[in-house]
Amino acid sequence: MSATDTPLAPAPEAGAVMSEEELRRQAVEVLDANWERDHTVPSRALYPHQWSWDAAFIAVGLAHHRPERAWRDLRSLFAAQWYDGRVPHIVFDPDVSERDYFPGPAFWDAPASPGRLGGLTTGIVQPPVHAVAARDVYLRCLDRDAARHELEWLYPRLVKQQTYLFEGRDVAGDGLASIVHPWESGLDNSPAWDNALAAVPVDLSLLRSHRRQDTQVSVHSHRPTDTDYARYIAIAAAYRDGGYLDEGLLERHPFLVECPSFNALLALAELALAGIAEVIGADAAPHRDRAEHITKVLVDRLFNPSTGMFHARDVRTGQLSTARCVSGLIPLVLPGLPEAHRSSLLEVARSEAFGLGGELPLPSYDRTAPDFDRLRYWRGPVWINVNWLLWQGLRAHGHEHEAAALRAAMLGVIRRGGCHEYFDPVTGHGIGAAAFSWTAALALDLMAATP
Ligand code: SER
Repeated sequence: MSATDTPLAPAPEAGAVMSEEELRRQAVEVLDANWERDHTVPSRALYPHQWSWDAAFIAVGLAHHRPERAWRDLRSLFAAQWYDGRVPHIVFDPDVSERDYFPGPAFWDAPASPGRLGGLTTGIVQPPVHAVAARDVYLRCLDRDAARHELEWLYPRLVKQQTYLFEGRDVAGDGLASIVHPWESGLDNSPAWDNALAAVPVDLSLLRSHRRQDTQVSVHSHRPTDTDYARYIAIAAAYRDGGYLDEGLLERHPFLVECPSFNALLALAELALAGIAEVIGADAAPHRDRAEHITKVLVDRLFNPSTGMFHARDVRTGQLSTARCVSGLIPLVLPGLPEAHRSSLLEVARSEAFGLGGELPLPSYDRTAPDFDRLRYWRGPVWINVNWLLWQGLRAHGHEHEAAALRAAMLGVIRRGGCHEYFDPVTGHGIGAAAFSWTAALALDLMAATP
């Protein structure tokens, strides 16, 4: 961990708990310190560029602090949208050296996009949480006229982003979007991909020609393994070498997965777009229809009645993963989820595997699984963004009591540990990057909400 990545506000004494006022101060300091010209970096040392889904969560928090920056962050991300509608998962800062993040612009070798010089983005995407963020920022802004103007600029771009995912990424032709890389899920080393990844050959020599930067600035045992990284590089290179084209992926691409969280967020984005359409005088009905359709396909294709939750499907083999990951609970965000599926997800969320209602937020992976790893990134640790989404889902379904408990659990770990990237699901201690933007942003949002 680098010195630039430590919290700016004085750290609380061991065992001390920050008051909400102290946390508010620290969260604001983290967001101010991570602001860079026209965007917020997730973390100065570990993630020194702009990340797509981070920008969305960060905007929700900025709306409480500096709304003009919330809109600028979203605008700068969408200025890098590709001609085909994809919103890149990283927009590179040209002032950051290639040495400071791997894989950087030279590796991705991306074509020019309308708002950017060529080569300054990656060619993969992340979950489309931006319409939800734009609607939430609008709802939190006092200057509704200015905010409506921002929505008018964003709306056609958000629609284009969705269209790319529905059309370009419906690899299986079943109405769900496929991800072509684990990084596209945002849940990089989740056990949800273990089966699909097992078929991708591991060439560790790739790590001799490409040096990992993340393990220079973070604890190695808290990050994905070298085997994971060798596969990540190979899959990204395969997509790049295919010209980032989506035609014919089924015949040639080594990793194609339908992720329940990604697709639930795709449907939720349509509901948010319906809300935005109403504000700016566009037609909301097609958005509601699409949300309903994706919800139905999600239930038909990715729900496993024997585990009572959703799972990732390997499109190449047709197999559902058996791993019980937090991504399989995220469809709870959908208000149109059938009653039986909603109650089944709640039962799993309340079980020992995830512990909803307990003192800690939900872990990223089943606590009772033999390979549960409390420290390694998405293989166990608690993440605030997915818990924030589940909190929204509980509220949407009227589970106010459990929503309040989850909110208290999230604020509890952040008040004890500070604005960390993730938290140990056993002790609640903060791990990963220390001054992490979306934790700070979502803490501001949680504190502003009615318990
Ligand atoms: N999350 C990945 C990283 O650690 C890629 O976006 O860099």
